[in-house]
Amino acid sequence: MVSFLKRKKEKEGSHATMQPVSKDMEDAFFQPTRALPAIEFRNVHLAFDDKVILDGISFKVRRGETKIILGRSGSGKSTLIRLVLGLLKPDDGEILVDGEDITYLSEAQMMDVRAKIGMVFQEGALFDSLPVYDNVAYRLHERKVDEELVEEQVKRMLEFVDLEDAIDKMPDELSGGMRRRVGIARALVGNPRIVLFDEPTAGLDPPTARTICELAIKLRDIQDVSSIFVTHEMKNLEYLSSEYAIMEDDGKVIFEEEGERLCIINTEIIMLHEGELIFSGKEEQLRASKDKYIQRFLNGK
Ligand SMILES: Nc1ncnc2c1ncn2[C@@H]1O[C@H](COP(=O)(O)OP(=O)(O)OP(=O)(O)O)[C@@H](O)[C@H]1O
Ligand SMILES: [Mg+2]
Repeated sequence: MVSFLKRKKEKEGSHATMQPVSKDMEDAFFQPTRALPAIEFRNVHLAFDDKVILDGISFKVRRGETKIILGRSGSGKSTLIRLVLGLLKPDDGEILVDGEDITYLSEAQMMDVRAKIGMVFQEGALFDSLPVYDNVAYRLHERKVDEELVEEQVKRMLEFVDLEDAIDKMPDELSGGMRRRVGIARALVGNPRIVLFDEPTAGLDPPTARTICELAIKLRDIQDVSSIFVTHEMKNLEYLSSEYAIMEDDGKVIFEEEGERLCIINTEIIMLHEGELIFSGKEEQLRASKDKYIQRFLNGK
């Protein structure tokens, strides 16, 4: 990607050179790891008994990218997420996280990999007997982190999902959308550079679903987090593919739609069908696809 580069005329010479536009980008530009995908699947095969779920899947989630995974129920979306977490092992092929081949790592070695990944579960999956504070703090308590640090992180994460006031509430006192946001706060504890969302908006009303998408956009654009976002809701696809977040001088985050201003939204889509990737690309390309199955899917048939 050279989109963050500008051409700068050298004073002493007439030839143009490529220069990063900011210090951050300069660092990113010279970091060899920056070029490594956050997640990579190489020809991954997986079957349960004789039922083939993934039949040679390859894709990359680049750094700072949101990869939307589309596919009907049972197409293998959650399975794919479980493979990234090492909860399942593929029958064949390789899975890399931050350039490291995790395919054959032991359970103990996988713990280190999981520590850098935040997971937002399909159902939110909060512990009903624990207050919001302890739910969000869960991973830190597990690692026996000092309580002062835990409290600081929990508050910061709850602020990120706009739920500071819910810190002492029990999960059953929260609405479905609030529970989902607590689930996101919990996933973000420890500042993971990779976040996996499995149907984070399922069962939520459209405005609440939108707030969840905005959180994902904020993570993508402000925190440079790489993510997989499993969904079958077309509205989510539209938000994540057409809106971007910017932080204003006062620290407030605002959302804008891709418009005249040059902006390359860092969301790509893949679609799973019968074990194969039948699409990989941008939203416009998906909508323009002539493939009958894709068109039926997009039209909710
Ligand atoms: N541990 C398992 N043993 C046997 N079959 C399994 C197992 N886990 C998943 N499956 C099967 O694999 C297929 C893919 O399941 P998966 O949960 O990945 O689908 P999905 O795309 O996430 O669906 P949904 O949209 O309903 O969440 C399904 O047919 C499921 O029944
Ligand atoms: Mg699923």
